[in-house]
Amino acid sequence: MLKTVRTTPYTDQKMGTAGLRKKSTIATQENYLENFVQSIFNAVGGVKGQTFILGGDGRYFNKTAIQKIMKMSAANGMKKMIVGQYGLMSTPTSSRVLLKNKADGGFVLTASHNPGGINGDFGIKYAVASGGQCPTSVSDKIYENSKNIQEYKILEAPDVDLSCLGTQKLGDMEIEVIDPITEYVQMMEKIFDFAAIRRLFASGFTFIFDAMNAVTGPYARRIFVDILGAAPDSVVNDVPMEDFGGLHPDPNLIYAKPLVEKMYSDNAPDMGGANDGDGDRNMILGKKFFVTPSDSLAILTDNYKYIPAYKNGIYGVAKSAATSTAVSRVAKALNIGYYEVPTGWKYFCNLMDSNRITFCGEESFGTGSCHIREKDGIWAILSWLNVIAATGKSVEQITREHWQKYGRSYYMRNDYDGIDVNVANKLMDDLEQRMPSLVGKKFGNFTVKEANPFIYNDPVDGSSTKNGLIVYFTDNSRIVYRLSGTGTNGATLRVYLERYETKQLDEDVEKMLEELADVSRQIGEITERTGKVKADLLT
Ligand code: G1P
Ligand code: ZN
Repeated sequence: MLKTVRTTPYTDQKMGTAGLRKKSTIATQENYLENFVQSIFNAVGGVKGQTFILGGDGRYFNKTAIQKIMKMSAANGMKKMIVGQYGLMSTPTSSRVLLKNKADGGFVLTASHNPGGINGDFGIKYAVASGGQCPTSVSDKIYENSKNIQEYKILEAPDVDLSCLGTQKLGDMEIEVIDPITEYVQMMEKIFDFAAIRRLFASGFTFIFDAMNAVTGPYARRIFVDILGAAPDSVVNDVPMEDFGGLHPDPNLIYAKPLVEKMYSDNAPDMGGANDGDGDRNMILGKKFFVTPSDSLAILTDNYKYIPAYKNGIYGVAKSAATSTAVSRVAKALNIGYYEVPTGWKYFCNLMDSNRITFCGEESFGTGSCHIREKDGIWAILSWLNVIAATGKSVEQITREHWQKYGRSYYMRNDYDGIDVNVANKLMDDLEQRMPSLVGKKFGNFTVKEANPFIYNDPVDGSSTKNGLIVYFTDNSRIVYRLSGTGTNGATLRVYLERYETKQLDEDVEKMLEELADVSRQIGEITERTGKVKADLLT
């Protein structure tokens, strides 16, 4: 039975860098999810006759939310929903299924790399027909709708059984339950040289993948172990859990500690990798060696010809402004297009749709290509395996040779967490005001060459976005300041430090950036304003 439910608006449903992300306690409030979903449907002019993709990373509230969304979609006249078995689907798979089926939109229930569980976070990524997260013009409309919503539509019906593959009906809507892993594998097989990677494992190459108890566990087991022949114990934490077993599923040196310790131990395998909650982030490690995401993008771009899907050439490459400039040097050498965009994957999508770029990446452990419109964690790991299989070189060797050829960007991100929102906004506003007066000033060994807000003019749709503030120094070092758009606890100030060296290639990163970190606190007046003498998190 179709039911129209009266509701009152919540005022905090503005999407951030990657959809709506909230504490589970907030997202599970009465009508909270329903209001947001109906606001989307209203903002896009209804979903009558349309097809949507639906899945999630399995975190707490995933199961309940999936049922609610299916019932609301049916009540809003949707024609068909393609749903992941057990309600699971990684973000990259969702983009693939959306594009393949030419669907009108999709939802992935995830707060990405944020912890899950009752005390963790929940979130919704909403994708549009192009396969990526919705543009700001659409999210603004959704937000406006959410502030005025009075009612939503839902079907009163028993829960849908999502364990069996195939088609069923919910009211007049068709539900097709698919195996997301098969979909994903089919795509990867077409991109990579699976035979070469199989030979690599058969030759004794050792590997470990940490799925962090999140959505990619079953994908990794199928691909790395069953198909490519890696040892069965090379995939760990591979059963998705509602609270990720208490892990913080963010693949970086801090949160993937057990993997990092293993990779820095004497019996480390040849390569290590990890993904985040919804499978779009990745971390790459060699034996006692870490590859920064910025370097990873540059290295994969430089080695594109080893990967079958790209061997005939790539269009160009893009990075977020905060990401190190390593890939810009590769783009120059290859004479391909190069773009710098604001933080957030959606800014890459127009560039991919218009064949301006093939590869793109962000410093925040996101790497991807135009095979879909999201970053792709397992794709990044397969890319490295493919390059290793083709060159016979180790992770470390590939990276060091890259530095020798292009120089090295020492790079680090400093996060200052849990700052009062007003203090953080004022810090950024005041710094922006001060920027012109910084030019020519000397801070220790660093002299400011230029200081500007980062403004991106999209070459495809003409939109203009301001995101963060950048200070450039005369020695090619940079500091980027921006506020996080994904946090759920006050404001997070992110400060990105980069120093470029062509000769000193083997120094300690923290040491190389120590002075620049001090300079970043001076220029931003961080300590005076926040009371913090150092960052809470270094990645
Ligand atoms: C963070 C990352 C950004 C990434 C986003 C979604 O956003 O910095 O690169 O696109 O998560 O994964 P932020 O919190 O900085 O706005
Ligand atoms: Zn993610």
